[in-house]
Amino acid sequence: MLSVVPSPVVVRAPSKVNLHLGVGDLRADGYHDLTTVFQALSLSDDLRLAPAASLTVRVTGEGAAQVPTDRTNLVWQAAVALAHLAGRAPLVEIAIAKGIPVAGGMAGGSADAAAALVGLNELWDLGLGRDELASVAAELGSDVPFALHGGTALGTGRGEQLLPVLSRNTFHWVLALAKDGLSTPSVFRELDRLREEGDPPRLGHPQKLLQALAAGDPHALAPLLGNDLQAAALSLKPELRRTLRAGVGAGALAGLVSGSGPTCAFLCETEEAAIAVAAELAGAGVCRSVRTASGPVPGARVLDHEPQA
Ligand code: C5P
Repeated sequence: MLSVVPSPVVVRAPSKVNLHLGVGDLRADGYHDLTTVFQALSLSDDLRLAPAASLTVRVTGEGAAQVPTDRTNLVWQAAVALAHLAGRAPLVEIAIAKGIPVAGGMAGGSADAAAALVGLNELWDLGLGRDELASVAAELGSDVPFALHGGTALGTGRGEQLLPVLSRNTFHWVLALAKDGLSTPSVFRELDRLREEGDPPRLGHPQKLLQALAAGDPHALAPLLGNDLQAAALSLKPELRRTLRAGVGAGALAGLVSGSGPTCAFLCETEEAAIAVAAELAGAGVCRSVRTASGPVPGARVLDHEPQA
């Protein structure tokens, strides 16, 4: 019998910024209830998945040295979970080309896990629908379902329950990458500590922000951006205050810490404005490096062609 080895599959996975991140109290299961508005950004990772004799993960690119390649990597766990569902062995080599900062608050690890699910569904010809992939995704981590979904979405629960949000136009962002990462659990813990000590202000409902997104107006959106985790990220990394000030000083409409940080995201009026803000910020010595990005973009998706290296 002729057996055909499937061709490698390449998947692009977007990063995300939380335009609104409202954090509720600590739950009994160790998570916090969230009300968040995610936007998927063009800064992305590419994964190449190919049949292999065993499960292996390789990582190159932005921050690769900090990424584990064993079973602690979410991509590994995604491959094992999907293989289990399909009743087969996870015999695949997954090469991750990172563009998303590691431990940067932009859900890079979650994006990779979502991309692995999409890629293996294709490589193994499983024919699973988005809903089936989304339930595996939610088991892997709170941000993985959004990385599958993409676009702009309202997240509740741990962040895994999603509703699409109408977002007109493309928004332009500058991202200031920090020297070291921040661990998400430690930032949530710091917020709990700050809340025990005092009563830092909490975001309300993102109603007006949703209206600004529907109108596609960056000027209306800018003052409505907010993140309850920002106070905790700034408490752990006070130098981020300078970064936030520098971005707005360079002409951004607004800046905020992305998710649990330490990446800072700056909303700009146009693509040209974003390029100018990025250039000024890069020279200001307030971050490790600077990227421009736009959003919303689609969730993890198979590419027709391998990107040029
Ligand atoms: O779901 P995920 O594994 O990505 O979450 C990482 C950690 O972030 C959790 O263990 C928890 O400490 C914190 N977290 C939280 N509330 C959420 C999401 C994450 O406290 N809604």
